[in-house]
Amino acid sequence: MKAALSSVPEKQQQDSEFLREVLEGLGGKRKTLPCKYLYDEVGSRLFEDICEVGDYYLTRTEASIFANNLRDIASEIGRDALLIEPGAGNCEKVEALLAVLESPRGYYPIDISPEILLDAERRIKANLPEMQVWSEVGDFTQPGVWDRLSMIPSRKRVVFFPGSTIGNFEPEKAEELLEMFAANLGTGDGLLIGTDLVKDSVRLERAYHDSEHVTEKFNKNLLSRINSELGADFDLSLFAHRAFYHQLRKRVEMHLVSLKKHSVSIADTRVDFSEGETIHTENSHKYSVSDFNQLLARGGFRPICHWKDSADSYAIHYAQAI
Ligand SMILES: C[S@@+](CC[C@H](N)C(=O)[O-])C[C@H]1O[C@@H](n2cnc3c(N)ncnc32)[C@H](O)[C@@H]1O
Repeated sequence: MKAALSSVPEKQQQDSEFLREVLEGLGGKRKTLPCKYLYDEVGSRLFEDICEVGDYYLTRTEASIFANNLRDIASEIGRDALLIEPGAGNCEKVEALLAVLESPRGYYPIDISPEILLDAERRIKANLPEMQVWSEVGDFTQPGVWDRLSMIPSRKRVVFFPGSTIGNFEPEKAEELLEMFAANLGTGDGLLIGTDLVKDSVRLERAYHDSEHVTEKFNKNLLSRINSELGADFDLSLFAHRAFYHQLRKRVEMHLVSLKKHSVSIADTRVDFSEGETIHTENSHKYSVSDFNQLLARGGFRPICHWKDSADSYAIHYAQAI
Protein backbone atom coordinates (compact mmCIF):
# COMPACT_ATOMS: atom_id res chain seq x y z
CA MET A 1 0.00 0.00 0.00
CA LYS A 2 1.22 3.41 -0.80
CA ALA A 3 -0.23 6.80 0.02
CA ALA A 4 0.63 9.73 -2.23
CA LEU A 5 1.50 12.28 0.48
CA SER A 6 2.29 15.94 -0.21
CA SER A 7 5.91 17.05 -0.45
CA VAL A 8 6.90 20.48 1.00
CA PRO A 9 6.56 22.40 -2.33
CA GLU A 10 3.20 20.66 -2.92
CA LYS A 11 2.04 21.74 0.57
CA GLN A 12 3.05 25.35 -0.19
CA GLN A 13 1.17 25.16 -3.47
CA GLN A 14 -1.91 23.78 -1.65
CA ASP A 15 -1.73 26.63 0.92
CA SER A 16 -1.56 29.30 -1.78
CA GLU A 17 -4.43 27.62 -3.65
CA PHE A 18 -6.42 27.62 -0.39
CA LEU A 19 -5.67 31.34 0.13
CA ARG A 20 -6.57 32.17 -3.46
CA GLU A 21 -9.91 30.34 -3.25
CA VAL A 22 -10.75 31.87 0.16
CA LEU A 23 -10.04 35.42 -1.02
CA GLU A 24 -11.91 34.83 -4.26
CA GLY A 25 -14.94 33.43 -2.41
CA LEU A 26 -15.01 36.21 0.19
CA GLY A 27 -14.30 38.92 -2.38
CA GLY A 28 -17.49 38.34 -4.36
CA LYS A 29 -20.82 40.13 -3.98
CA ARG A 30 -22.26 37.05 -2.28
CA LYS A 31 -19.63 35.54 -0.02
CA THR A 32 -18.92 31.83 -0.44
CA LEU A 33 -16.26 29.30 0.59
CA PRO A 34 -15.65 25.97 -1.21
CA CYS A 35 -17.12 23.14 0.87
CA LYS A 36 -14.14 20.85 0.24
CA TYR A 37 -12.23 23.00 2.78
CA LEU A 38 -14.63 21.93 5.54
CA TYR A 39 -12.59 18.71 5.69
CA ASP A 40 -9.28 19.32 7.44
CA GLU A 41 -8.38 16.75 10.12
CA VAL A 42 -10.72 18.36 12.69
CA GLY A 43 -13.49 18.78 10.10
CA SER A 44 -13.22 15.15 8.99
CA ARG A 45 -13.51 13.97 12.62
CA LEU A 46 -16.48 16.30 13.15
CA PHE A 47 -18.11 14.84 10.04
CA GLU A 48 -17.70 11.38 11.62
CA ASP A 49 -19.50 12.77 14.71
CA ILE A 50 -22.27 14.18 12.49
CA CYS A 51 -22.83 10.68 11.09
CA GLU A 52 -23.62 9.52 14.65
CA VAL A 53 -26.09 12.33 15.38
CA GLY A 54 -29.74 11.21 15.68
CA ASP A 55 -31.09 13.99 13.41
CA TYR A 56 -28.60 13.17 10.63
CA TYR A 57 -30.46 10.23 9.07
CA LEU A 58 -28.35 10.05 5.87
CA THR A 59 -25.44 7.85 6.96
CA ARG A 60 -27.62 5.46 8.97
CA THR A 61 -30.12 5.10 6.15
CA GLU A 62 -27.47 4.57 3.50
CA ALA A 63 -25.77 1.97 5.72
CA SER A 64 -29.06 0.11 6.15
CA ILE A 65 -29.64 0.02 2.37
CA PHE A 66 -26.15 -1.41 1.93
CA ALA A 67 -26.64 -3.97 4.68
CA ASN A 68 -29.98 -5.13 3.25
CA ASN A 69 -28.78 -5.39 -0.36
CA LEU A 70 -25.08 -6.20 -0.13
CA ARG A 71 -25.23 -9.46 -2.12
CA ASP A 72 -27.35 -7.88 -4.88
CA ILE A 73 -25.00 -4.92 -5.10
CA ALA A 74 -21.94 -7.19 -5.22
CA SER A 75 -23.48 -9.26 -7.99
CA GLU A 76 -24.28 -6.12 -10.04
CA ILE A 77 -20.60 -5.10 -9.71
CA GLY A 78 -19.36 -8.58 -10.64
CA ARG A 79 -15.92 -10.14 -10.35
CA ASP A 80 -12.37 -8.70 -10.60
CA ALA A 81 -13.49 -5.11 -10.05
CA LEU A 82 -11.16 -2.29 -9.06
CA LEU A 83 -13.16 0.01 -6.75
CA ILE A 84 -12.34 3.73 -6.94
CA GLU A 85 -13.75 5.93 -4.17
CA PRO A 86 -13.53 9.72 -4.62
CA GLY A 87 -14.02 11.50 -1.26
CA ALA A 88 -13.47 8.23 0.59
CA GLY A 89 -13.28 9.79 4.08
CA ASN A 90 -12.87 7.03 6.66
CA CYS A 91 -13.54 4.35 3.98
CA GLU A 92 -15.94 2.61 6.35
CA LYS A 93 -18.72 1.85 3.88
CA VAL A 94 -16.46 0.21 1.33
CA GLU A 95 -15.06 -2.40 3.69
CA ALA A 96 -18.19 -4.55 3.85
CA LEU A 97 -18.49 -4.33 0.08
CA LEU A 98 -14.85 -5.27 -0.56
CA ALA A 99 -15.31 -8.24 1.76
CA VAL A 100 -18.16 -9.74 -0.32
CA LEU A 101 -16.96 -8.90 -3.87
CA GLU A 102 -15.75 -11.80 -5.96
CA SER A 103 -11.95 -11.57 -6.38
CA PRO A 104 -11.75 -7.75 -6.21
CA ARG A 105 -8.75 -6.28 -8.07
CA GLY A 106 -8.19 -3.65 -5.37
CA TYR A 107 -9.23 -0.31 -3.96
CA TYR A 108 -8.26 3.25 -5.00
CA PRO A 109 -9.53 5.77 -2.41
CA ILE A 110 -9.10 9.52 -3.04
CA ASP A 111 -9.51 12.18 -0.36
CA ILE A 112 -8.40 15.72 0.23
CA SER A 113 -7.85 15.02 3.94
CA PRO A 114 -4.64 12.96 4.32
CA GLU A 115 -4.98 12.08 8.01
CA ILE A 116 -8.34 10.38 7.74
CA LEU A 117 -7.31 8.54 4.57
CA LEU A 118 -4.11 7.17 6.12
CA ASP A 119 -5.96 5.99 9.24
CA ALA A 120 -8.48 4.25 7.01
CA GLU A 121 -5.73 2.64 4.95
CA ARG A 122 -4.14 1.19 8.10
CA ARG A 123 -7.52 -0.21 9.18
CA ILE A 124 -8.23 -1.81 5.78
CA LYS A 125 -4.74 -3.33 5.78
CA ALA A 126 -5.44 -4.92 9.15
CA ASN A 127 -8.94 -6.15 8.26
CA LEU A 128 -8.39 -7.22 4.64
CA PRO A 129 -4.67 -8.08 4.37
CA GLU A 130 -5.01 -9.46 0.82
CA MET A 131 -6.51 -6.25 -0.57
CA GLN A 132 -4.33 -4.03 -2.73
CA VAL A 133 -4.88 -0.36 -1.90
CA TRP A 134 -3.62 2.70 -3.78
CA SER A 135 -4.49 5.77 -1.65
CA GLU A 136 -4.44 9.13 -3.36
CA VAL A 137 -4.45 12.42 -1.44
CA GLY A 138 -5.90 15.27 -3.46
CA ASP A 139 -8.89 16.95 -5.01
CA PHE A 140 -10.94 14.45 -6.99
CA THR A 141 -12.25 17.21 -9.28
CA GLN A 142 -8.70 17.62 -10.61
CA PRO A 143 -7.48 15.20 -13.31
CA GLY A 144 -4.05 14.59 -11.64
CA VAL A 145 -5.38 12.36 -8.86
CA TRP A 146 -6.82 9.95 -11.42
CA ASP A 147 -3.50 9.55 -13.31
CA ARG A 148 -2.17 6.52 -11.41
CA LEU A 149 -5.24 4.53 -12.46
CA SER A 150 -3.84 4.06 -15.94
CA MET A 151 -0.96 2.09 -14.38
CA ILE A 152 -3.29 -0.39 -12.67
CA PRO A 153 -4.49 -3.02 -15.11
CA SER A 154 -8.03 -4.16 -14.33
CA ARG A 155 -10.81 -6.01 -16.11
CA LYS A 156 -13.48 -3.74 -14.67
CA ARG A 157 -13.49 -0.40 -12.84
CA VAL A 158 -16.29 0.79 -10.57
CA VAL A 159 -16.49 4.29 -9.10
CA PHE A 160 -18.00 4.10 -5.61
CA PHE A 161 -19.44 7.50 -4.57
CA PRO A 162 -21.59 7.12 -1.43
CA GLY A 163 -22.49 9.66 1.26
CA SER A 164 -24.57 11.85 -1.09
CA THR A 165 -21.34 13.74 -1.86
CA ILE A 166 -22.69 14.32 -5.40
CA GLY A 167 -25.31 16.55 -3.70
CA ASN A 168 -22.57 19.01 -2.74
CA PHE A 169 -22.21 19.95 -6.41
CA GLU A 170 -24.59 22.28 -8.26
CA PRO A 171 -26.38 20.19 -10.93
CA GLU A 172 -24.20 21.50 -13.82
CA LYS A 173 -21.03 20.78 -11.81
CA ALA A 174 -22.42 17.37 -10.82
CA GLU A 175 -22.87 16.61 -14.50
CA GLU A 176 -19.26 17.63 -15.21
CA LEU A 177 -18.07 15.45 -12.34
CA LEU A 178 -20.00 12.45 -13.69
CA GLU A 179 -18.41 13.12 -17.09
CA MET A 180 -15.03 13.07 -15.40
CA PHE A 181 -15.82 9.74 -13.73
CA ALA A 182 -17.00 8.36 -17.10
CA ALA A 183 -13.78 9.55 -18.75
CA ASN A 184 -11.82 7.36 -16.32
CA LEU A 185 -13.99 4.31 -17.01
CA GLY A 186 -14.50 2.10 -20.05
CA THR A 187 -17.84 1.23 -21.61
CA GLY A 188 -19.77 -1.07 -19.28
CA ASP A 189 -17.73 -0.11 -16.20
CA GLY A 190 -19.79 0.83 -13.16
CA LEU A 191 -20.82 3.69 -10.91
CA LEU A 192 -22.33 2.96 -7.48
CA ILE A 193 -23.60 6.23 -6.07
CA GLY A 194 -25.73 7.38 -3.11
CA THR A 195 -28.21 10.25 -3.23
CA ASP A 196 -30.40 11.78 -0.58
CA LEU A 197 -33.99 12.05 -1.86
CA VAL A 198 -36.33 15.05 -1.81
CA LYS A 199 -38.42 14.97 1.38
CA ASP A 200 -40.16 17.27 3.86
CA SER A 201 -38.17 20.35 4.76
CA VAL A 202 -38.46 19.93 8.54
CA ARG A 203 -36.60 16.62 8.47
CA LEU A 204 -34.02 18.00 6.04
CA GLU A 205 -33.35 21.14 8.05
CA ARG A 206 -33.03 19.19 11.30
CA ALA A 207 -30.38 17.00 9.72
CA TYR A 208 -28.19 20.04 8.96
CA HIS A 209 -29.04 22.03 12.09
CA ASP A 210 -29.00 19.26 14.64
CA SER A 211 -30.00 19.69 18.26
CA GLU A 212 -26.56 18.55 19.43
CA HIS A 213 -24.93 21.46 17.47
CA VAL A 214 -22.35 19.19 15.83
CA THR A 215 -23.05 20.58 12.33
CA GLU A 216 -22.63 24.06 13.75
CA LYS A 217 -19.14 23.11 15.03
CA PHE A 218 -18.35 21.51 11.65
CA ASN A 219 -19.40 24.67 9.78
CA LYS A 220 -17.54 27.06 12.11
CA ASN A 221 -14.41 24.92 11.99
CA LEU A 222 -13.88 26.29 8.49
CA LEU A 223 -13.22 29.72 10.01
CA SER A 224 -10.86 28.21 12.64
CA ARG A 225 -9.02 26.50 9.81
CA ILE A 226 -8.65 29.76 7.89
CA ASN A 227 -7.37 31.40 11.10
CA SER A 228 -4.76 28.73 11.78
CA GLU A 229 -3.62 27.98 8.23
CA LEU A 230 -3.88 31.43 6.65
CA GLY A 231 -3.26 33.64 9.71
CA ALA A 232 -6.72 35.22 9.65
CA ASP A 233 -8.51 36.71 12.67
CA PHE A 234 -12.10 35.48 12.40
CA ASP A 235 -13.94 35.82 15.74
CA LEU A 236 -16.13 32.69 15.73
CA SER A 237 -18.51 34.21 18.29
CA LEU A 238 -19.50 36.82 15.67
CA PHE A 239 -20.94 34.16 13.34
CA ALA A 240 -24.01 31.94 13.65
CA HIS A 241 -24.68 28.66 11.86
CA ARG A 242 -27.72 28.64 9.55
CA ALA A 243 -29.11 25.76 7.45
CA PHE A 244 -32.33 25.89 5.45
CA TYR A 245 -34.02 24.00 2.63
CA HIS A 246 -34.40 25.97 -0.62
CA GLN A 247 -37.58 24.47 -2.11
CA LEU A 248 -37.02 25.74 -5.64
CA ARG A 249 -33.40 24.63 -5.90
CA LYS A 250 -34.10 21.43 -3.95
CA ARG A 251 -31.07 21.86 -1.75
CA VAL A 252 -30.13 22.45 1.87
CA GLU A 253 -27.89 25.51 2.08
CA MET A 254 -25.45 25.95 4.92
CA HIS A 255 -24.30 29.48 5.82
CA LEU A 256 -22.36 31.37 8.48
CA VAL A 257 -24.20 34.57 9.38
CA SER A 258 -22.32 37.64 10.57
CA LEU A 259 -24.00 38.82 13.79
CA LYS A 260 -22.76 42.40 13.47
CA LYS A 261 -20.90 44.77 11.17
CA HIS A 262 -17.20 44.02 11.45
CA SER A 263 -13.99 43.34 9.49
CA VAL A 264 -11.66 40.36 9.30
CA SER A 265 -8.10 40.34 8.03
CA ILE A 266 -6.77 37.44 5.99
CA ALA A 267 -3.14 37.64 4.86
CA ASP A 268 -3.09 41.45 4.47
CA THR A 269 -6.54 41.57 2.90
CA ARG A 270 -9.43 43.16 4.80
CA VAL A 271 -12.84 41.56 4.38
CA ASP A 272 -15.86 43.59 5.56
CA PHE A 273 -19.05 41.98 6.87
CA SER A 274 -22.34 43.77 7.41
CA GLU A 275 -24.83 42.59 10.05
CA GLY A 276 -26.79 39.61 8.70
CA GLU A 277 -24.45 39.06 5.74
CA THR A 278 -23.68 35.39 5.17
CA ILE A 279 -20.89 33.16 3.93
CA HIS A 280 -22.43 30.32 1.93
CA THR A 281 -20.37 27.27 2.87
CA GLU A 282 -22.18 24.20 1.48
CA ASN A 283 -25.07 22.98 -0.67
CA SER A 284 -26.62 19.54 -0.34
CA HIS A 285 -28.84 18.93 -3.36
CA LYS A 286 -31.72 16.47 -3.07
CA TYR A 287 -33.01 14.44 -6.02
CA SER A 288 -35.95 12.31 -7.01
CA VAL A 289 -34.89 8.99 -8.56
CA SER A 290 -36.12 10.07 -11.99
CA ASP A 291 -34.30 13.44 -11.84
CA PHE A 292 -31.14 11.66 -10.80
CA ASN A 293 -31.47 9.14 -13.63
CA GLN A 294 -31.63 12.06 -16.05
CA LEU A 295 -28.50 13.56 -14.49
CA LEU A 296 -26.72 10.19 -14.83
CA ALA A 297 -27.66 10.03 -18.51
CA ARG A 298 -26.40 13.59 -19.13
CA GLY A 299 -23.14 12.65 -17.36
CA GLY A 300 -22.49 9.64 -19.62
CA PHE A 301 -24.08 6.78 -17.66
CA ARG A 302 -26.93 4.34 -18.27
CA PRO A 303 -28.95 3.86 -15.06
CA ILE A 304 -29.28 0.13 -14.36
CA CYS A 305 -31.03 -0.19 -10.99
CA HIS A 306 -31.39 1.40 -7.57
CA TRP A 307 -32.11 0.39 -3.98
CA LYS A 308 -34.03 2.49 -1.43
CA ASP A 309 -35.00 2.29 2.24
CA SER A 310 -38.64 1.56 3.12
CA ALA A 311 -39.37 5.26 3.85
CA ASP A 312 -37.99 6.38 0.44
CA SER A 313 -35.50 8.69 2.17
CA TYR A 314 -32.38 7.72 0.29
CA ALA A 315 -31.28 5.81 -2.81
CA ILE A 316 -28.20 3.93 -3.96
CA HIS A 317 -27.96 3.76 -7.76
CA TYR A 318 -25.96 1.45 -10.02
CA ALA A 319 -25.19 2.77 -13.49
CA GLN A 320 -22.90 1.76 -16.36
CA ALA A 321 -20.58 4.03 -18.32
CA ILE A 322 -21.84 4.37 -21.90
C1 LIG B 1 -19.63 13.68 2.95
S1 LIG B 1 -18.03 13.00 3.25
C2 LIG B 1 -18.32 11.35 2.66
C3 LIG B 1 -17.30 10.38 3.15
C4 LIG B 1 -17.53 8.94 2.74
N1 LIG B 1 -17.45 8.76 1.29
C5 LIG B 1 -18.88 8.46 3.23
O1 LIG B 1 -19.76 8.21 2.42
O2 LIG B 1 -19.06 8.37 4.45
C6 LIG B 1 -17.11 13.74 2.00
C7 LIG B 1 -15.65 13.32 1.92
O3 LIG B 1 -15.16 13.81 0.69
C8 LIG B 1 -13.94 14.49 0.88
N2 LIG B 1 -13.92 15.54 -0.13
C9 LIG B 1 -14.81 16.55 -0.29
N3 LIG B 1 -14.52 17.26 -1.40
C10 LIG B 1 -13.41 16.68 -1.94
C11 LIG B 1 -12.64 16.93 -3.09
N4 LIG B 1 -12.95 17.93 -3.93
N5 LIG B 1 -11.58 16.12 -3.35
C12 LIG B 1 -11.25 15.10 -2.51
N6 LIG B 1 -11.96 14.80 -1.41
C13 LIG B 1 -13.03 15.58 -1.12
C14 LIG B 1 -13.94 14.99 2.30
O4 LIG B 1 -12.65 15.14 2.82
C15 LIG B 1 -14.76 13.90 2.99
O5 LIG B 1 -13.93 12.90 3.52
